[in-house]
This record gives sequence, structure tokens and C-alpha cells, in this order.
Amino acid sequence: MYYPDELIEEIRAKNDIVDVISGYVRLQKKGSSHFGLCPFHNEKSPSFSVSRTKQMYYCFGCGAGGNVITFLMEYENYTFQEAVQELARRAGVELPKMEYSKEAREKASLKSTLLEINKAAAQYFYVQLKSPPGRTAYDYLKGRGLSEETIKAFGLGYSNKYSDDLYRYLRGKGYKEDMIRQAGLISTDEKHGAYDKFWNRVMFPIMDANSRVIGFGGRVMGDAKPKYLNSPETLIFDKSRNLYGLHRARSSRKPYFLLCEGYMDVISMHQAGFTNAVASLGTAFTAGHASLIKRYVQEVYLVYDSDEAGTKAALRATPILKEAGISAKVIRMEPYKDPDEFIKNLGAGEFEKRIGGARNGFMFGLEVLEKDYQMDSPEGKTAFFQEAARRLTRFEDELERDNYIEAVAKAYQVSAQSLQKLVTKEAVRTGMAKPVSRPKVAGGKKEEKEDGRKTAQKVLLTWMIDDARVFQLVRGIVTPEDFTESLYEAVARMLYGQYEDGNLNPARILNHFQEEGEHREVASLFHTRIRELTTGQEKERALKETIWRVKENSIDVRLKGLHPTDMAGLQRLTNEKRNLPEIEKLHISFD
Ligand code: UTP
Ligand code: MN
Repeated sequence: MYYPDELIEEIRAKNDIVDVISGYVRLQKKGSSHFGLCPFHNEKSPSFSVSRTKQMYYCFGCGAGGNVITFLMEYENYTFQEAVQELARRAGVELPKMEYSKEAREKASLKSTLLEINKAAAQYFYVQLKSPPGRTAYDYLKGRGLSEETIKAFGLGYSNKYSDDLYRYLRGKGYKEDMIRQAGLISTDEKHGAYDKFWNRVMFPIMDANSRVIGFGGRVMGDAKPKYLNSPETLIFDKSRNLYGLHRARSSRKPYFLLCEGYMDVISMHQAGFTNAVASLGTAFTAGHASLIKRYVQEVYLVYDSDEAGTKAALRATPILKEAGISAKVIRMEPYKDPDEFIKNLGAGEFEKRIGGARNGFMFGLEVLEKDYQMDSPEGKTAFFQEAARRLTRFEDELERDNYIEAVAKAYQVSAQSLQKLVTKEAVRTGMAKPVSRPKVAGGKKEEKEDGRKTAQKVLLTWMIDDARVFQLVRGIVTPEDFTESLYEAVARMLYGQYEDGNLNPARILNHFQEEGEHREVASLFHTRIRELTTGQEKERALKETIWRVKENSIDVRLKGLHPTDMAGLQRLTNEKRNLPEIEKLHISFD
């Protein structure tokens, strides 16, 4: 579903970027820009700038940037369409409904109905908790040390002892039985008809990153089984793509998340001031969780239970995090069972110390491994080091492997050299040894070249956006078609058009890219910084080189696409190639 360009531009233009961002970030005017603390990374002095004239934002610290739509996509985790809808609402612009396909409209309205139902249920549970029938539940939560404020912040509630009162309440609000079932709140059997899924439990509403209730976990107050009953997966509740506590953790401004196992752990940690705690929802940690986390932080501290299950889960989660490019450390809670108990017994200060003493995932794995060996016998110890060496061979990157060899040697007080030898031996033995000149090199070079082409086009485009003089110089030589990356070609076309019309408007260009991946890529064009070149001469040199590369690549690509009998075309391209040295004669003064 796409909105027409003109409409998107109208909505964008009606939402001044400084006004919108001011709703999220405290901005101060300095010169022609507004500055504030970047909401996308952790910082103490403001490097986040918003320009009213350009209607763009940019962070000098982390490189985040884009227009007002990009901002909402990044901050609220919206899709392009959702961001536009929010801005339209804000500016009072009516969006055409016909643009949706019938299915899309039905799905969207089904989704919003399910969200409404879950929200209504959460409110109902909360009211129950605060009324006489909820007394035991309320006392239970208080007994577990939760403050009034915490109960409210997490919207905790109580599902009372009647088997269908939520059902009747929701029906009374006009929701159809089928909708309530699709929201995961009731079951049906032939004998009794519809009945509530949650019954006499303390209720934990599960919210998505935007604080919308998408499901529930319900805990028994005694020892009955199951301890927690959770909403089934529904159209709005995908357990592998949501994390409990994320709606608060995302704005905690810490550069890492504390990842734990349970609802109660998250709540205790938040109450103790660790508002960056999240938990996976009663399921194993998945790659989906990791990529969700990656949107907010690059580092995770695992705070899993101390039992065997928790240890295993931590060992399973670390490679998943690493795969997603997130560095993982493990915090142990011994002698306590979990963070909830730990904090209750030792307090926030001690917990803070454990964060400081966290071990990285690999070393933690070795520590667990140690328990399987008799470390006080020479045989046991040797076998342990053999296994450790085997694991060390799995680091593909040599530098990283060496660093780990050193760390292991230090921790276990053996010489790094002999461990190094053992690693090599293990690598040979298990057939993992890689000769220094791997055949991969050939492939690597090609990739590098391809990347180089793309980079040259990106740099040139960024430069032309950034500096009108560069555009004036380049326009006669490089045409939009010379950008062989289709995304860049599309941007170039618009950019040339805007320059010709004399109204450069980068924020508007961004409107055209509605698919998230493309939008981010194009947004990055507007804030990729040209490598700091000191002298004007250096800049001139770099610019000429970049033009040359872009032009040469374009000629090569066109040569390849030429029909074998097209002699005239061949002649023309050969001429163009011969003329490349003309680029050297260009002159632009950067001083
Ligand atoms: P725990 O048993 O560690 O629960 O399970 P907890 O959160 O620490 O709760 P308390 O302190 O015992 O009250 C960890 C998580 O596993 C899921 C829940 O998400 C829980 O928070 N779980 C556990 C279930 O979904 N069902 C269960 O029966 C048990
Ligand atoms: Mn627990």
C-alpha cells in the first residue's frame, strides 16, 4: 500500500521537524541548528542536531539521521506507513482509505481491534486488582516487595475467580466473541461455551516497544501448575519478536540491556533502578529477539537463573547474540536463584558490582565446561585444555583468536605459547586448519571491488547533496544513469531535478523510499560524512578520483551490456573511456 508522493510531502511539510522532535528530545537552539542529547545512543554532551531549514536531523556521535518520517521510524519503531499515519494524525491531514487493498484494510482493522481488546482487558484486570476481590492478589504482589508505583508502571492486575467475567465484560463493550477469541483471551468448549483463559491469576500485561498491550502472562499465587499461563500467539502477539520490559528499557539511555529470564526478574530490576532489563517471553531466546535488541543497543548482559537450565539457556543465547553482532557478557547470581532474589537479598549496589564483574560469553562457556573435568588430575586438565583449544579454533578471525588464547592462558595460568601450539594442533587434527593463503582471497577481492564501486557512487552522491558547487561541477560529466546502483540512480534523478528547479529539498527525496531497508539506506546518504580531508587540494584530488571511478564503472557496465553487433555503441563507449583523463583538468577551489 503506497500513498501518493504529493500527499506524503504535504504531511511531511506540515510537521516541522524541530516541533516533532522537541516532543521527544529537549532541544536548544545554537546557530542555525537545534541541539540535544541523541535518543539513539548514550551520551552526556549533545551531538544530535536538527535543522529547521533542511528539515533533517543528524547525530555527529552515532551517525543517525534522516527526515521527520525517518525519526519516527527509528524512535517509535514504526514502518514507513505507520510513521506517515502518525504524522498525518498530528497535522490533521486526512489519509485516503481507498489506498488500502481490501485484505490490508481488514487485517489492519482486525489488528487494531485485537489491540483494543487487550487494552480493555488490561484495564479490567487492573481495576480487579484494586477492588476487594483482588485483595489476595494485591497482597501477594506487595508481599513480593513490589511498590505501588511499580505495580502501576507495569500495569499489573488480577483475573478473578469467575470463569467468564472478562468475557462478559468485553461482550458488554461490544466486542464479538470471535474477536475476543482471536485476542487469545477465551477458549470455548461444547459443554460450557466461551470461558476466560485466565482465572484467579496475577496478570502481567505484555507490551510491545510502543507500550501497546499485545498479550498477558498470568501467575498462580500458590504452587499450582502451570506457574505461568501465557496468551497464545495471535495476529498481534509474536513471542519471538517481542521482549518483556522493552517499552521501558528502550528509553533507559544505557548502552546495554540486561537480559533475564522472567517477568518478575524484569520487574524487580526496574524497581531497583535497572530500567534497561528485558526478558524473552517464556520462550527460548531467538535470532528475532537479537535483531530486535540490535535496534537499541550493541551489548547485552545475560542475567539468567543460576540453575542448570538457566546456565544452558545462557550458553545457547550467547552465540545467537554474537551472530547478530551484539557482544554478550554473562552475570552470575549465585548464591541466589535469580536476579529477583539477588536484589531482594543483597540490593542494587551489589548487583551493580556483579555487572562490573561480568564475564564474556566464551570465558563463561569454559567455566561451565570445567565442571565436567577433573581439574586436579593431569589427565583431566589436559583433556579440558584440548576441548578449550578445539573451541578456540572456531574463531575465524586470527586477531580475535589470539586475543582469546591470551585471555584463556591468563585465566588458567598456562603459557600462551603452549596453548597456541595446542590450538594449531587441534585445528590440524580436526581438519579446520586454514592455510595462510586461502583460496577465499580471489573471492574477497571481487567483493571488495564491488563494494568500492558502490562506495564511490555513495560518496559522490553525498558530496553533491552536501555542496552545491560540487553538484555544479559534476552535473556536466556524470549523469544519473552513471549511478549503476538503481537506488542511487533514483536518488540522483530527484536530486538533479531539484537542483534544476532551484529548490534542493533532501527531506522530500527521502519520502520516496517507503520500504524500510531502502529508506534507511537513502537516509544514510544524507549523513554519510566525507572523510575529513584537511586541505582543499586533498579534497579536489579525492573528488576527481571519485568521479573517475564512478564514470569508469558506468562505462564498464554499459560495455558489458552492449549487443555484440553494436559497433557504434562500442565506438562511443571507447571514446568515453579515452576521455576519462579529461577529469583531471577539472578545477574546483575548496579553500
Ligand atoms: P521462572 O519460573 O523463573 O519465573 O520462569 P519468574 O519470572 O522468576 O517468576 P517467580 O519469581 O517464580 O514468580 C521464567 C519465565 O519463564 C516463563 C515466564 O515468562 C517466566 O517469567 N514461564 C515459566 C512460563 O511461561 N510458564 C511457566 O509455567 C513458567
Ligand atoms: Mn525466576
